Amino acid sequence: MRPLDKYEHGGNIARAAQKYGLYEKEIVDFSASINPLGPSPKVYGAIEEELWKIKHYPDPDCGNLPALLAGHLGVERENLLLGNGGAELIYALPRTLNIKRALVAAPTFSEYAAAVEASGGAVTFAGYRHSPGELAAQMDGYDAVFICNPNNPTGRAFSRESLLPVLEASKKSGSTVIVDEAFIDFVEGRSEKSLMNMAGGTPGLVILYSMTKFFGIPGLRLGAAVSSQETIGLLKKSKDPWSVNALAIAAGEAALRDVRHMSDTLEAIREERSYLFSALSCLPGLEPYPSEANFLLVDITGTGMTTGELVEKMGRRGILVRNCSNFKGLESPCIRVAVRLREENDRLLRALGEVVSG
Ligand SMILES: Cc1ncc(COP(=O)(O)O)c(C=O)c1O
Repeated sequence: MRPLDKYEHGGNIARAAQKYGLYEKEIVDFSASINPLGPSPKVYGAIEEELWKIKHYPDPDCGNLPALLAGHLGVERENLLLGNGGAELIYALPRTLNIKRALVAAPTFSEYAAAVEASGGAVTFAGYRHSPGELAAQMDGYDAVFICNPNNPTGRAFSRESLLPVLEASKKSGSTVIVDEAFIDFVEGRSEKSLMNMAGGTPGLVILYSMTKFFGIPGLRLGAAVSSQETIGLLKKSKDPWSVNALAIAAGEAALRDVRHMSDTLEAIREERSYLFSALSCLPGLEPYPSEANFLLVDITGTGMTTGELVEKMGRRGILVRNCSNFKGLESPCIRVAVRLREENDRLLRALGEVVSG
């Protein structure tokens, strides 16, 4: 079996279809954690209406999208910069802020390390027992610390209070604190967890955000950074002015106006996360971790299988789950599954049931 690349992600349906000899539409993808309801139907309408715009350059100021997104996030428009997915801004940050030594709260999303290394920097992965706030004591000598909240792949959301020691320590160490809130929209009571509304007024704090997951538009690429006006100005200078395209702008505006789709999404995730968690807990050898996001990390130690074996057996059944063996700092063998709709979740559970009982 081919070993997993260190930065390999979920969601590669085309490769899976080829590997398992299946049609793409036969596959259910639990390996990428995207809104199972898909985008708002209004998004498709807006794209059709705005299709004529592709013969022009997109608006570098992104139309009404920054104002709408600032409203959604509860921040000032001047403190926000849109990007071609959160990923564009993850890559822009080390370049722009000259991050040469970074501390990364592990296990977590691999692109922080990839971005720092791509711009010539080095990364130290730091574990923590209870909360990444414990990293406060280790920040001396680092240009930046990366924290993901809620964290991918564990699904844990950290309270604001638990992260404040990191902000305090950054004043002394001079490190930039980068908190990735790509999954924050899925968190109940997000205002107690998010540092978003502190970012404009706290020097050295950058919050990353993504419209990919909650709004179900990974193919359009929309993300944002929220920070002081000074940092936003630097980021703006270092990135392509047209990286957010006309259709993404139209889609983002339509998505943010569809409040009903947002509440339907939250309700579906709340119900299905709890259903999936209970059902997974009942399967022999599987131990899901409690999660506040739209995915569940599942420890498979008790099955006696390697993650590679389990992922392969699921793949042959047309179900993609995320092999977590390339997450640095994750000690036990784990898979990550997205929370999807009931029929798909039942298909996952049936297949897992077959696989774990041999
Ligand atoms: C924690 C985290 N941040 C950011 C991203 C990138 O999101 P985007 O699609 O907005 O580039 C991902 C994608 O998986 C992610 O898991």
